[in-house]
Amino acid sequence: MNAPTMQGLNLNAPSHVKNARLLAWVADMAALCKPESIYWCDGSQQEYDRLCQQLVDAGTFKKLNPAKRPGSYLAWSDPSDVARVEDRTYICSAAKEDAGPTNNWMAPAEMRATLQPLFDGCMKGRTMYVVPFSMGPLGSPIAHIGIELSDSPYVAVNMKIMTRMGKAVYDVLGVDGEFVPCVHTVGAPLAAGEQDVSWPCNKTKYIVHYPETREIWSYGSGYGGNALLGKKCFALRIASTMGRDQGWLAEHMLILGVSNPEGKKYHVAAAFPSACGKTNFSMLVPPDAFSGWKVTTIGDDIAWIKPQADGSLRAINPEAGYFGVAPGTNTLTNPNCMASLDKDVIFTNVALTDDGDVWWEGMEKDTGGQPAHLIDWQGKDWTPEIAKQTGAKAAHPNARFTVAATNNPALDDAWDDPKGVKIDAFIFGGRRSTTVPLVTEARNWTEGVYMAATMGSETTAAAFGQQGVVRRDPFAMLPFMGYNMSDYFQHWLTLGEKLAASGATQPRIYTTNWFRKDEAGKFVWPGYGENMRVLKWMIDRLEGKATGEETMFGVAPAYAEINWSGLDFSAAQFNTVTSIDKAAWAEELKLHTTHFEQLAYHLPQALLDTKAAIEKRLAA
Ligand code: OXD
Ligand code: MN
Repeated sequence: MNAPTMQGLNLNAPSHVKNARLLAWVADMAALCKPESIYWCDGSQQEYDRLCQQLVDAGTFKKLNPAKRPGSYLAWSDPSDVARVEDRTYICSAAKEDAGPTNNWMAPAEMRATLQPLFDGCMKGRTMYVVPFSMGPLGSPIAHIGIELSDSPYVAVNMKIMTRMGKAVYDVLGVDGEFVPCVHTVGAPLAAGEQDVSWPCNKTKYIVHYPETREIWSYGSGYGGNALLGKKCFALRIASTMGRDQGWLAEHMLILGVSNPEGKKYHVAAAFPSACGKTNFSMLVPPDAFSGWKVTTIGDDIAWIKPQADGSLRAINPEAGYFGVAPGTNTLTNPNCMASLDKDVIFTNVALTDDGDVWWEGMEKDTGGQPAHLIDWQGKDWTPEIAKQTGAKAAHPNARFTVAATNNPALDDAWDDPKGVKIDAFIFGGRRSTTVPLVTEARNWTEGVYMAATMGSETTAAAFGQQGVVRRDPFAMLPFMGYNMSDYFQHWLTLGEKLAASGATQPRIYTTNWFRKDEAGKFVWPGYGENMRVLKWMIDRLEGKATGEETMFGVAPAYAEINWSGLDFSAAQFNTVTSIDKAAWAEELKLHTTHFEQLAYHLPQALLDTKAAIEKRLAA
């Protein structure tokens, strides 16, 4: 152990921690936050078990029935702390223009002055956990290291599942290696003798990123992306700025492998906005008619993608676990995910059954109806009768599971390969009940960037107040962009130019929309495993086996080019999900104009030119 270095508090650093910058930073943060003690996580199973037991003793965790759900726990958060807080999330670049119009911004000095009194003494009466983690396989040339300081043992155990967390990180870090410093507090100091609550948090919240100095400061929330700082804060917001500066991509994308019956394998990275089925798509089970086809998961939420000397793009999943939305997940929508949740899971804000298991809306498909009685996510009695009368949900709609990737039966063999996997295609998928067709392939990289830059999703009343309004979510990165969105578009265009100059085959770019509805307001495309049919068409295109048909918005499949075996889906239904309604597109393009006006600063001319070309085709 190193000697004490600060007033009254032993820094307690283990001898294998030799990074001078790290030691100095932990000492500074401890002096500011004033925890009662400091604990350096080693990432071992014993440590995990001990911290989980501590959380059980504190009332934060309930241990689930080991006969039903071995090694698993349930946490219920404070009802005010249930989701990411986008309106409290800041990109504090030196220049406001560098954060761009899609981010909240405050000058770094002003933000530091705001946070200073909040962080001063914020960990009193608590332990500061030092959580070393690698985003990506340890030592991979695509991976990067972070250290999170948190006063939440819930965060420490979740980080063990979600990242490569533990002692080995210090070997990679060495004496002078780089790391992203991430400091997190629930913002609930304890006075001497004060009894803690089961989910401490603060009604004031700040999720702050300083892109120039690559720091993350999070105050007041213990939930998900607000608190597990490796995920959205580091792997997307800070990493996107690292990617801009170093020539790579940090994307809100799943990565999957798809193998055909001959064993030829492709890798696809796909961006969908939050809650649009990324986990489902990454674990897709092909329909029976696709015997010999296999889909395997590399990642379900985030991809780090670095160009290689040969002009290829190689990608890793920087995470090591899944922090997925539970409601709606069942053995029909995602059997591999349900199998992943059999054991060793942390559930947050789902309901507790009378026999010590978990339940959420959507599970009735598996449990043969709703249970007669549950304790809901707020600790209240729940019965189908109460639900009918009051509309009470058993699980919060944003209830989550945290589970190791290694629990996934469809995990790809290369998921932990430090070299990553070679990307053959990108998919950008929005959620639109009209206008955007099921699938098209961009004619070229620039058109693909246009498709991604203009993608959107219809809002749900629960999420954004007004139902059915299209929220543009470029590249599914709107809440996760660490710098000016238009500069990011240019970054993609520049990368495309570099790949083209290398002479290597560029990945193809597709746009998809699984969510078109008919006149009765019903989804027409069956989705889930049936999306394999679209995936196969993409592979056929890569292999030159499908000609497709030119449309004003890319190349679309002809009805006969999709394998329909085992699915009754008529040409008329296909037309409902693929037709291009000229009047709707004229309106759509007006919305693209408004969107581009909002992003006018540094908007690449190439996107305006692409729009003009689409307009010309529409008018033809
Ligand atoms: C997530 C999100 O939690 O995108 O992955 O919100
Ligand atoms: Mn996500």
